[in-house]
Amino acid sequence: MLGVDQPVNLNLLEIPAASAAVQGVVMELNDCAFATLNRITATSDANEGFKDCNFAMLVGARPRGPGMERKDLLLENAKIFSAQGKALDAVASRDVRVLVVGNPANTNSLIAQHNAPSLPRNRFTAMTRLDHNRGLAQLKEKSGAALEQVKKVIIWGNHSATQYPDLHHATVGGKPALSLVDSSWFKDSFIPTVQQRGAAIIKARGTSSAASAAAAALDHVHDWMLGTPPGDWVSMGVSSDGSYGIPEGVIYSYRYLQERRLQHRAGIGDQRFQPRKMQATQRELLEERDGVKDLI
Ligand SMILES: NC(=O)c1ccc[n+]([C@@H]2O[C@H](COP(=O)([O-])OP(=O)(O)OC[C@H]3O[C@@H](n4cnc5c(N)ncnc54)[C@H](O)[C@@H]3O)[C@@H](O)[C@H]2O)c1
Repeated sequence: MLGVDQPVNLNLLEIPAASAAVQGVVMELNDCAFATLNRITATSDANEGFKDCNFAMLVGARPRGPGMERKDLLLENAKIFSAQGKALDAVASRDVRVLVVGNPANTNSLIAQHNAPSLPRNRFTAMTRLDHNRGLAQLKEKSGAALEQVKKVIIWGNHSATQYPDLHHATVGGKPALSLVDSSWFKDSFIPTVQQRGAAIIKARGTSSAASAAAAALDHVHDWMLGTPPGDWVSMGVSSDGSYGIPEGVIYSYRYLQERRLQHRAGIGDQRFQPRKMQATQRELLEERDGVKDLI
């Protein structure tokens, strides 16, 4: 995640009910004999888990239970992420970078951010890198090109089925992707496949994506810390500064290049198609924000 020469001290935060299971995870991690894994601490105390940490990957979240409404899920998770935000605020290193994976990831990240007022807002992100990687994989398969030839996919918005996976800037071997695939494949196959990929994996495996999500989390932190690949960008949920007409403050997925989002609107592609898609996912994020307004 941070390079082959960067030793890592890993703090694992678990709920007390899973403290035995976490010991099994510690054993497995030790048995991997990872060259860069220096030390592991397992705890149920957020103030110990986040103490002086430089990177916080917030994965633990409550899954949707039987009869649970989306709003109930939001509120249950809001409690977890407000407590973790407060702990980060109190004890994390002042340069901490926070990646929220647990769903609803964008809104959970917003909650953690609002509960950590002493930390800079731009240190709180949400994971849409898995959606980005799913987009790359779909385009690779369709075009038959090597993965390294496939660049500049963008995931806009929420990590949910309303996200907008965009190919207007994507290239394959330097050529515009939309000149190589027909627009019906883009609209009727690519977009829904990427949007629904999480549900398709749950249907096939009976459980949510695991290895691909973990790989995407490593990619996210790697590129955020060490820079995006040359000539390419990645997708990341970050605090909106109002760019592209997205309301300021909401955690929205944009293309992310180096340490800085592209701020301009130029070259945004088909103006009739994109804003509609971008607004649908924005509307959902605003509804989610409204659902947790008492906690932010
Ligand atoms: N953003 C993405 O692309 C993406 C991809 C995959 C999964 N997810 C989400 O990641 C989350 C985790 O998925 P999973 O499959 O690993 O679930 P899981 O249920 O297998 O694991 C969640 C773990 O979090 C722990 N946990 C729960 N509440 C906690 C708390 N308050 N503090 C510390 N730990 C806590 C649980 O004990 C459990 O070990 C889910 O919300 C899932 O929807 C997001």
